[in-house]
Amino acid sequence: MNKFTEAMDFRHACKLFDDKRVVSDDDIHFILEVGRKSPSSFGLEPWHFVVITNPKIKELLRPACWDQPQITTASHVVVLLARKAATFKKGSPYLAQSFTRKTHGNAEKMQAVLNAFHSFAQNNWGERIEDWARMQVYIASANMMTAAAYIGIDSCPIEGFEPDKVEAILKSHTNSYARGEFNLAYILTFGYRTKPQSKQLRKKLSEIVEFIK
Ligand SMILES: Cc1cc2nc3c(=O)[nH]c(=O)nc-3n(C[C@H](O)[C@H](O)[C@H](O)COP(=O)(O)O)c2cc1C
Repeated sequence: MNKFTEAMDFRHACKLFDDKRVVSDDDIHFILEVGRKSPSSFGLEPWHFVVITNPKIKELLRPACWDQPQITTASHVVVLLARKAATFKKGSPYLAQSFTRKTHGNAEKMQAVLNAFHSFAQNNWGERIEDWARMQVYIASANMMTAAAYIGIDSCPIEGFEPDKVEAILKSHTNSYARGEFNLAYILTFGYRTKPQSKQLRKKLSEIVEFIK
């Protein structure tokens, strides 16, 4: 079996971590780098990762996350944030900065990419643009979980939380969320399993794939 398939088989939604084991700085950086290198629509990287190791903040978060033990037993809790709608409006400095990397100061190319983006944003997403930003964050998150599995680190994605309560905690304990530029997308937890992994339940390929030849 190749190493990628091994990682896909190793990864599962780990329900309880060994709270004595800490993911090393090198390993968490490896995982975060994979998030950073993930693809995003128009290359806009509309994400921000808040990495929490402070046990007091984990304790605060746990009741807001349906009291799930992953939050306090994980070595690292990574809160994934997605850029707010203002980022994607006409005249946004963030858009200008991001697109400058591709257009290298060529005003014509810049206008073309801005026009293409604004028409895409308006026609395809409109009022739902923040959902679109969150979707990009989920791509990075999937890559991070697979990267973790590749180096023998367990993870659990956490969408089971009360957004208002999590946001209140983020507002008073993080700089990035407090700046008001981001929405909460969801949470990843990383650590080491305490129990054998659950059986992977998946539909057959034939049930979910249609080949058109
Ligand atoms: C976006 C997302 C949110 C999830 N939220 C939770 C959660 O709050 N708590 C939990 O125990 N599992 C959560 N899961 C894990 C899923 O239940 C799990 O991935 C699925 O049942 C398949 O199991 P497996 O990942 O172990 O193969 C979440 C998964 C995803 C992708």
